Amino acid sequence: MPNNRMDIGRWRGGSCVAFVTRTMNYIIRKMAISDYDEVRRLWGQTEGIEIDESDSRESIGIYLKRNQGFCFVACADDSVVAAVLCGHEGRRGILRHLVVKREYRGKGIARALIAESLSALEKEGIKKCNTFVLDENIEGRRFWEHMGWYVLRDNYRTMQMPTFRDK
Ligand SMILES: CC(C)(COP(=O)(O)OP(=O)(O)OC[C@H]1O[C@@H](n2cnc3c(N)ncnc32)[C@H](O)[C@@H]1OP(=O)(O)O)[C@@H](O)C(=O)NCCC(=O)NCCS
Repeated sequence: MPNNRMDIGRWRGGSCVAFVTRTMNYIIRKMAISDYDEVRRLWGQTEGIEIDESDSRESIGIYLKRNQGFCFVACADDSVVAAVLCGHEGRRGILRHLVVKREYRGKGIARALIAESLSALEKEGIKKCNTFVLDENIEGRRFWEHMGWYVLRDNYRTMQMPTFRDK
């Protein structure tokens, strides 16, 4: 029995993929800086996503320029309804800030966005991809586990240092 998430069709043309499902149509395309306002609004409205100064327009502009072809948005009903940031440092891919607008969840959009990013990384020769999930984001963790992602190690901390410091 077909379900709501089953694709009726999908077409790849130019730089985007169009999906037709039983309940909606959407496209996935590369994220551009002109998407910033809509994507930033989506991040701000979404539980489990932590925003900081690295999510300013300027910083995201730097990120997109450096990671061209790895970051994607999904668009439906004339607006951006989902997004993912992805990039790599030559060894590992890093996927961040995956969000799907609440009304558009459960339709396979996150799965399709992840597939685009992983496929772009694979073409670049990157063998593995990491993501970060807040400990308290229980649903997010369940999602990644359902998608086959595994906790790499739980015995280390991510440590950080600002690049700008008083000299
Ligand atoms: C997590 C999130 C991105 C999922 O988006 P989505 O478009 O609804 O996901 P999809 O429809 O592509 O689902 C893909 C699969 O994951 C499953 N899934 C979706 N949400 C899930 C959850 N919370 N727990 C377990 N499985 C989940 C779906 O059932 C589907 O399974 P199937 O394809 O094997 O049948 C979305 O709920 C969201 O934006 N959450 C808030 C932000 C967040 O937590 N982001 C991820 C961590 S940074």
